[in-house]
Amino acid sequence: MAPAATSTASAPSSFHSTGRHRARVGARPSLVSLRVRAANPNVTADPAPAFQSVTTFAPATVANLGPGFDFLGCAVADASLSLGDTVTATLDPSLPPATVSIASVTSPSRPNLAERLSRDPLRNCAGVAAIAALRALGVRSHAVSIHLTKGLPLGSGLGSSAASAAAAAKAVDALFGSRLGRDDLVLAGLESEKAVSGFHADNIAPAILGGFVLVRSYDPFHLVPLSFPPALRLHFVLVTPDFEAPTSKMRAALPRQVDVQQHVRNSSQAAALVAAVLQGDAGLIGSAMSSDGIVEPTRAPLIPGMAAVKAAALQAGALGCTISGAGPTVVAVIQGEERGEEVARKMVDAFWSAGKLKATATVAQLDTLGARVIATSSLN
Ligand code: HSE
Repeated sequence: MAPAATSTASAPSSFHSTGRHRARVGARPSLVSLRVRAANPNVTADPAPAFQSVTTFAPATVANLGPGFDFLGCAVADASLSLGDTVTATLDPSLPPATVSIASVTSPSRPNLAERLSRDPLRNCAGVAAIAALRALGVRSHAVSIHLTKGLPLGSGLGSSAASAAAAAKAVDALFGSRLGRDDLVLAGLESEKAVSGFHADNIAPAILGGFVLVRSYDPFHLVPLSFPPALRLHFVLVTPDFEAPTSKMRAALPRQVDVQQHVRNSSQAAALVAAVLQGDAGLIGSAMSSDGIVEPTRAPLIPGMAAVKAAALQAGALGCTISGAGPTVVAVIQGEERGEEVARKMVDAFWSAGKLKATATVAQLDTLGARVIATSSLN
């Protein structure tokens, strides 16, 4: 095994290298973990484990939702829970205390994907979040090995890195008795997001909490989960072309300055979107989501066929359509799932005819649970 890396190492530049490592829960906690500890009176030093192992699932997320760039997102899932990542965190006495190791990474539906993910916990989204959670919990006497099962493709705009991070943070917390609060978990996941795709919580917050989440501010950290009437039967048609759009590249394309009139137009659309969620107005959710005039216009040209795919979705009866997160997945919203198949087919066809890209489609629902425990095994 390669020598243990410490969490005081500099931020990883790539999450795609390979190698076998474990990482020590460092002596120099980051600012975020300091805030986590200060904020949570339930966290005591060196908590006892509650389970031998815990398995969690965290859902895919649609960040931005059009005009909510970097501050709005929602969690989505299909009935078979294939839209998300699964993590098993296991107490591992063979490791030195206060370390994390990535024991395995698998991706049953995409065999080549697992090979591209690092086994170095400091270079793996689940590893970074697991370390942050252990640190936030104050664990010193136990070590944890992580098994990651990827259900989501990389660089797809579906919050793949956030799903791994959310599942890992949740699993580690549950392993030690679920002591961390909602914000603590999101901050642990945010350490991972910061390292891989930038300091934004619009994927990790809904991946942990479920539903729609507004990220109001980072300092102080303030999340606003958005409630909505139960009658809102929103469905999401997610169409993912065979094309990767790394978040870093899509962020590099963002405009450096925004005209004040455009700022006013986008802010009013984002406010309308939040109001529409709270009121359960699916039509307004769709039209506000379709109205981003700042980010979508700069990113759409980087996704071959995007304009035609959006037009096809709206023509087929979708209430709204935009880029999911940083793309290239395109998301259309519909009320009820009856139109889902038709809208999906038209979008897939448009990706092929206008962008020469093969694409796959899933019709998902809002996921209201977020990261959750799906299995546990008792202490020996
Ligand atoms: N808000 C982020 C972005 C989400 O659009 O860059 C990345 O998944």
